[in-house]
Amino acid sequence: MDTIQTIPTMPRIGDMAPNFESMTTTGKMKFHDYIQGKWAVFFSHPADFTPVCTTEMTGFANEKAFFDAHNTLRIGLSIDSIHAHIAWVNNVREKTGVLFDFPIVADIDMSVAKLYGMLQPGESETAAVRAVFFIDPAKKIRLIMYYPLNVGRNMEEIKRVLVALQTADANKCAMPLDWKPGDKVIIPAPKTVDELQERLASNLEMVDFYLAKKSLN
Ligand code: BEZ
Repeated sequence: MDTIQTIPTMPRIGDMAPNFESMTTTGKMKFHDYIQGKWAVFFSHPADFTPVCTTEMTGFANEKAFFDAHNTLRIGLSIDSIHAHIAWVNNVREKTGVLFDFPIVADIDMSVAKLYGMLQPGESETAAVRAVFFIDPAKKIRLIMYYPLNVGRNMEEIKRVLVALQTADANKCAMPLDWKPGDKVIIPAPKTVDELQERLASNLEMVDFYLAKKSLN
């Protein structure tokens, strides 16, 4: 008989971000209270005192001004202890001058990592993969990235998708392939015959009525 494989439930785009309480490097956190009214990027790393993770966390620290300007909190997580986190934060600050100024969840019992689908046993039984959850002010998950242990994330892409989500919300539009801030955006397709006529008579950049772009400037 074939083995029946059970697929664990994982958060999906559009779901409410799961709530939790945990110790972090900046004190005890009630997640939903902490992210109240803000965007949040919630990211896991496999382990403290490892090289790729150190570069990534340094990237999140260096982009403080960007995330602040975009009303976005940064929250890290690994399944290391609070003592390991504190020692690592201190070590990186001493060696490089960079302070990981955002909270890092100490998920020693892996409960939060499991809740967020960050533990992917085919990749590692003992470490979280490199996940990034983009959570909006309504606490809804809007975009998810998962990277394996041996490939670091791309900070430009993390920043790009955050701006894309915020711009799409603010302008009720969608972003085409490779969109970056300043590029034209895609406007919704017409919903009535009158809107269609209006669209066809417009001087928008248009392939046909269903693919029209406009500048936000
Ligand atoms: C790293 O961050 O360098 C790393 C962490 C876990 C496994 C492999 C690499």
